[in-house]
Amino acid sequence: MNIRCARVDDLMSMQNANLMCLPENYQMKYYFYHALSWPQLSYIAEDHKGNVVGYVLAKMEEDPGEDPHGHITSLAVKRSYRRLGLANKMMDQTARAMVETYNAKFVSLHVRVSNRAALNLYKNTLKFEIVDTEPKYYADGEDAYAMRRDLAKWA
Ligand code: ACO
Repeated sequence: MNIRCARVDDLMSMQNANLMCLPENYQMKYYFYHALSWPQLSYIAEDHKGNVVGYVLAKMEEDPGEDPHGHITSLAVKRSYRRLGLANKMMDQTARAMVETYNAKFVSLHVRVSNRAALNLYKNTLKFEIVDTEPKYYADGEDAYAMRRDLAKWA
C-alpha cells in the first residue's frame, strides 16, 4: 500500500471511491477545484497495482478574519482496505502539507453525529475536538459535529 499526493489523473478514481463510500458526493469540477487550487493537500492510497483504495480531499479556507486553516472536504477508504491505518496516515500527510505550504494553524471538518468509525478516528487517533454541533447539516436532516485539530505542534 502506498500513499502519495493526488494528481489530476487520480480525480476520477477519487470520485468513484467517494460514490462507493459516502452519500455526500460532488461534481467533477469540485475535485478539479481542489486539485488546481491546493495541489499539495489531497492524497490517495493505492494498492500494488496503482488502484486508488482511499483518498482525502482537502483545501484551505479563505477567511481573512481567521487564522489560516485547512479543511477536510471528504475522506474515505474502500471497505476491504479499512483498519490498516490508511486514513490516519493520509490525514497526517495533509496536515503536514497544510502547515508547510500554507502555515495552517488548525484543520477543520464536519462529520455525521452517527459516524462512529470516523468519530473514533478523529477524536481518539487524530485528537480533533468537537467545537460545535450544526443541526440538520446534511441533506437527510442529520446533525454534524464541527471538529478542529490544532496544528501548532506541527509548525
Ligand atoms: N470502528 C471503531 N474505530 C474505528 C473504526 C471503526 N470501524 N475505523 C477506524 N477507527 C479508529 C480506530 O481507533 C483506528 O485505530 P485501530 O485500527 O488501531 O483501532 C483508527 O480510527 C485509525 O483507523 P484507520 O485504519 O486509519 O481508518 P480507515 O483507513 O479504516 O478509515 C474511515 C476510516 C475513513 C472513517 C473509513 O471507515 C471510511 O471510509 N468510512 C466511510 C466513509 C466515511 O465515513 N468517511 C468520513 C466522513 S467525514 C469526512 O469526510 C470529513
